[in-house]
Amino acid sequence: MGLKVGTAVNTDALVDDPEYRAITATQFSSVTPENVMKWGLVEPTRGRYEWAEADRLVRFARAHHQVVRGHTLVWHNQLPEWVTAGTWTRAQLRGILRKHVTDQVTHFKGQISAWDVVNEAFNEDGTLRDSLWLQKLGPGYIADAFRWAHRADPKAVLYYNDYNLEGIGPKSDAVYRLVRQLRREGVPVQGVGLQTHLDTLYDFPEKMQFNMERFARLGVDVAITEADVRIPLPVSPTEGLAQVADYSQTMQACLAVPRCVSYTVWGFGDAYSWVPAVFDGEGSADIFDENLAPKPAYYALQQDLRLAAGAPPRP
Ligand code: G3I
Repeated sequence: MGLKVGTAVNTDALVDDPEYRAITATQFSSVTPENVMKWGLVEPTRGRYEWAEADRLVRFARAHHQVVRGHTLVWHNQLPEWVTAGTWTRAQLRGILRKHVTDQVTHFKGQISAWDVVNEAFNEDGTLRDSLWLQKLGPGYIADAFRWAHRADPKAVLYYNDYNLEGIGPKSDAVYRLVRQLRREGVPVQGVGLQTHLDTLYDFPEKMQFNMERFARLGVDVAITEADVRIPLPVSPTEGLAQVADYSQTMQACLAVPRCVSYTVWGFGDAYSWVPAVFDGEGSADIFDENLAPKPAYYALQQDLRLAAGAPPRP
C-alpha cells in the first residue's frame, strides 16, 4: 500500500465544518488526534476516563479506511492537574504512569497502528528534559513506558517522537543513542517520529535523509509525524516559495528512505493551525489556506507522491 499520508485532526472542526470533514476523509490515509488522546483530555479527573472524542475519531478513521496514529502517552505537557499538583512517592507516580499507559493502550487495542509512546523527552543539547517523569522516576521511565505499551497491544508500532529531530545535531544524536541502547536491551521501541515543525526563517535541517537512514539502520520505522512550515507574516513571495521547497524536501527525504512509513501534516488548514497562538507574527504554516483552498505546497506534495508512484489510493 505504500506510504501513509496523514493529518492531525481537530475533532471540533471535524464536527462543525463540513468542508474540513470532507478533506480529512478524502485526502489522507492516516489521522492523528491533535489533542483528544492526550492525558489531560482523556482523564481530567482521576479514574474517570473520557474516551468519547477519541473514539469518535477512531470510528471516523475506520469508516474512511484510514489508520490512526495514537498521540501521545508520556509527555510533560497537557497533563491533568491531579497528576501535576499531587505529591507522590516514586512508587505511586510510577504506578500512576503505568496505569495510564496500560489503560489507554488497552482501550484502543487493535485500532491504533502506531503510538507516540514517549514525546519530547530531550532538550536541544541532547540531555534529558527535566520533566516530572525524569525528576521522580529517573531515565528508566522511557523503557518502562515502551514495555507497558507493548504488553497492552503487542501489534501497535511504538514510537519515540520529538521536534528538532529532523537533522543531524546534538538532539538527534542523543535520540539515536537512546534508541540504539533500548534496542540492545530488548526494549520494544519500533519507530522514531520526526515532528518536522519547520520555519522559513531557519535553514533546512542538516542531512535529513541521512539522519532518517541512520535511524532506519537501527531496525526501526521512521515517520514524519507533525509537518508544518510557518512563515513570518505577511507572507512574502520568497518566503512562500521557501515553504513549498521545505514541504517538498521533507517529503522527498521520506520517499527516499524505505523505512519512512508515513508523512503526517500537523493540521492542513491555516484557520485551525496551532502556530499563530504560539509564534507571535508567524503563521500560514499549512498546505491549505484559511478558506481550505489548497496552497502551492499541497500541489508540490502531490507531485512528489506521483513522481514516486507512492501516492495512496484516492477517490
Ligand atoms: O480545550 C481548551 C478550551 O476549553 C479552552 O477554552 C481554551 C482556552 O485557551 O484552551 C483549550 O485548550 C487548548 C488546546 O490546544 C485545545 O484547543 C490549549 O489551550 C492549547 O494549549 C492546546 O494547544 C495544543 C498544544 O499541542 C499544546 O501543547 C495544540 O492544539 C496542538 O496542536 C499542539 O500539538 C503539539 C503536539 O501535541 C506535540 N508536538 C508539538 C505540537 C505543537 O505544539
